[in-house]
Amino acid sequence: MTVPIRHAVYGLPPADLADIPEEAVQVSPLIPGSARLEDVPPGTLAGATLLAPPGTMERRYVLALALRGLEPGGTLLALAPKDRGGARLAKELAGLGCTVADAPRRHHRICTTIRPAAPEGLEAATAEGGPRHVDNLALCTQPGIFSWDRLDPGSALLLASLPALKGVGADFGCGLGILARAVLASSAVTGLGLIDIDRRAVEMARRNVGDPRATVRWADIRAADPTLARLDFVVTNPPFHDGGAEDQALGKVFIARAAEVLRPGGTLWLTANAHLPYEAPLRAAFRHVTPVASASGYKVYEARK
Ligand SMILES: C[S@@+](CC[C@H](N)C(=O)[O-])C[C@H]1O[C@@H](n2cnc3c(N)ncnc32)[C@H](O)[C@@H]1O
Repeated sequence: MTVPIRHAVYGLPPADLADIPEEAVQVSPLIPGSARLEDVPPGTLAGATLLAPPGTMERRYVLALALRGLEPGGTLLALAPKDRGGARLAKELAGLGCTVADAPRRHHRICTTIRPAAPEGLEAATAEGGPRHVDNLALCTQPGIFSWDRLDPGSALLLASLPALKGVGADFGCGLGILARAVLASSAVTGLGLIDIDRRAVEMARRNVGDPRATVRWADIRAADPTLARLDFVVTNPPFHDGGAEDQALGKVFIARAAEVLRPGGTLWLTANAHLPYEAPLRAAFRHVTPVASASGYKVYEARK
């Protein structure tokens, strides 16, 4: 029997800005293994603490789910950096029927509220931020997922450059499954592991890919995974945001992990912003590195181990 959640925490709020009760259960889709806020029965939480996500629809969705989950009189603390949605939190919560105390601290806005007797607009906010089919991608998707409603130009360039692959491979950071669908179009592909740290992406990729050769896992590429070994190929559009130092480090980990899990002669297909310094780590980890395409600020590499 699963123990009901009494306090939900979303993300990793800075410890000096929010006290997280010991019994709090993590519900962020970006932390593998977390519970789903969507599955919390309405009116059952005593409290919720949210490091509110930056996307507007995504944030309103999480605020609405948390309010739905709270029992009458339950407390909600939502915070976010001022320039990543924090400045709009109080207004968004007021729009959901809450009376809000809003405090600025260390470049964040910290909003506290008690669940109102009759919150407003919860259904609209959860519908707006929930999974749906978008026609321009012809895929199932959800706000908050990388490039959730349009084809990323880096992915487009990789799609245009990929040959028909063979054997068993992996898609690191699979997102909605756009690259995986193209890879699986080759009948010579016998297996494909899709991995993403975002549960929403993994859930949508399962719907979008639906191929018996594919296995989709909610996991962090940085964690050990014994199922990934002696692969014939890896495809990836590694995470990037602003091309900041942290993102570059993560991109380099994706390259190193690909080199680890490929067999000798196996190939990595990687697309990235042209300004990201990935050529040196590719050359350090692979025997042959070939720039295959370059357009609109992106580059595709084929790297052979
Ligand atoms: C640039 S997006 C590419 C998504 C998809 N392949 C595409 O082409 O549209 C990078 C993906 O990596 C995922 N990601 C970020 N960090 C990760 C990690 N540590 N482990 C696994 N996936 C990660 C993100 O959630 C995101 O879906």
